[in-house]
Amino acid sequence: MGHRVERGIESLAPDLADQGGEVLQLLVGGRLRRHFEPRASTGHRTVLSPQRPSSSPVPGNDRADRLLRQELEEAATLWTRNDQGVRLQILTSVTSLLSVSRMEQRTLGADVCVGAVGLGCAGMSGAYGRSADEQSIATFRNALDAGITFIDTADHYGMGHNETLIGQALRPADRDRAVVSVKFGALFGVDGSVRGINGRPDAIPNFLGYSLQRLGTDYVDIYRPARLDPVVPIEETVGAVAEMVQKGYVRGIGLSEVGAETIRRAHAVHPITDVQIEYSLFSRDVEDEILPTCRELGIGVTAYGVLAQGMLTGTWRPSAGDARHRGHLPRFAAGNIETNLALVERLREIATSRSATVAQLAIAWVLAQGRVHRDIVALVGASRPRSIAEAVDAAGLRLTEDDLDAIEQAVPRGAVAGERYAPALLALLDSERTGGRR
Ligand SMILES: NC(=O)c1ccc[n+]([C@@H]2O[C@H](COP(=O)([O-])OP(=O)(O)OC[C@H]3O[C@@H](n4cnc5c(N)ncnc54)[C@H](OP(=O)(O)O)[C@@H]3O)[C@@H](O)[C@H]2O)c1
Repeated sequence: MGHRVERGIESLAPDLADQGGEVLQLLVGGRLRRHFEPRASTGHRTVLSPQRPSSSPVPGNDRADRLLRQELEEAATLWTRNDQGVRLQILTSVTSLLSVSRMEQRTLGADVCVGAVGLGCAGMSGAYGRSADEQSIATFRNALDAGITFIDTADHYGMGHNETLIGQALRPADRDRAVVSVKFGALFGVDGSVRGINGRPDAIPNFLGYSLQRLGTDYVDIYRPARLDPVVPIEETVGAVAEMVQKGYVRGIGLSEVGAETIRRAHAVHPITDVQIEYSLFSRDVEDEILPTCRELGIGVTAYGVLAQGMLTGTWRPSAGDARHRGHLPRFAAGNIETNLALVERLREIATSRSATVAQLAIAWVLAQGRVHRDIVALVGASRPRSIAEAVDAAGLRLTEDDLDAIEQAVPRGAVAGERYAPALLALLDSERTGGRR
């Protein structure tokens, strides 16, 4: 297969050059550099010379590489048909492939390779006010096109609406590229009141069956209990999900908001792919015990609340409508919000010095915490294409040591006012029982 790709691409390259130098510059400047190198360049014409496929392997990127080569092979084969319409489509898809390949990759668990920024879909089902399905679907597709591959949902987001929406947005051709993470087990009353957690083994095939139906897929990439069920040993919950892995309905097992001891117990039953937990400039408890434990065991971290539910963006403003959705969050409550917004303003200065927004600085800070180990994904909650565009650019923002020092001084750990959840919800968090305070 390798040989055919190389020949195909060699003939593709001069033609692409005829279409204008930009696409070719992308080809040469992007990750393809590892497979192809420029041999000669005169004006717009650059000839690519294939390297041996194994010439510069990058650990953790094998799956993405295989996908890229396979898709380029298809593009090269189609290109030889010499049909203008098809060629234009190929140019578009090669450009989008290259943006996929340009996003930094992170590895969760042993081998789940995903873009460093992930997409959190809760806001597409009313978590922060009214949402519009059409806009959400556009946001979702923009995210995939831009190289975001980790997609997070839960069966309770919008009481199933979120999974149904993802089922509509996720095209069959994109299914393999997406890593769909689903949380299960959170129970609510008909009126939306919180009713606890169900992590019982006999409930899991039932939850999963409904999720698969709504998502329109026959497997979930990462399946995780939304919270630890206090009356069911984690071994039993994970053991039941492991049976779903054996049957092919689930590919990997994740956890959410659990402490170090639970992580160890779960991992002893079945390898855990990632722990999803709040981690941001405002929420740094995980640094004490949870993150080191994950690193010791080779488990990834999918950080949520990276933007502190929209506050760490510098654009959030209080409004009467918003009070219904964020009003229950202590950090947005009167008495705390003033302190927290003042912290955001301190970040604005640093962001401006890097020609970035506060949101981008906050995302880049989380990504910087995982740069060495390549094990942290910054999950960004977004329901508008514009939020995706900013998040994708943030993935390319490399903070220097000086930037990180300035950020630390502007928002020292523990400076935020208020807990991250109201007391009743905080009480459901196993992570809070074993972690520090902020
Ligand atoms: N495991 C868990 O327990 C758990 C708990 C909560 C959330 N999560 C997951 O994590 C995801 C994100 O977490 P989160 O809900 O805490 O939210 P977040 O990412 O901290 O904040 C989301 C909010 O920020 C806004 N936003 C995004 N980019 C922006 C930008 N560039 N400028 C201005 N505003 C911007 C979004 O607006 P728009 O919607 O208008 O784009 C949304 O209102 C959720 O969707 C969910 O998948 C998991």
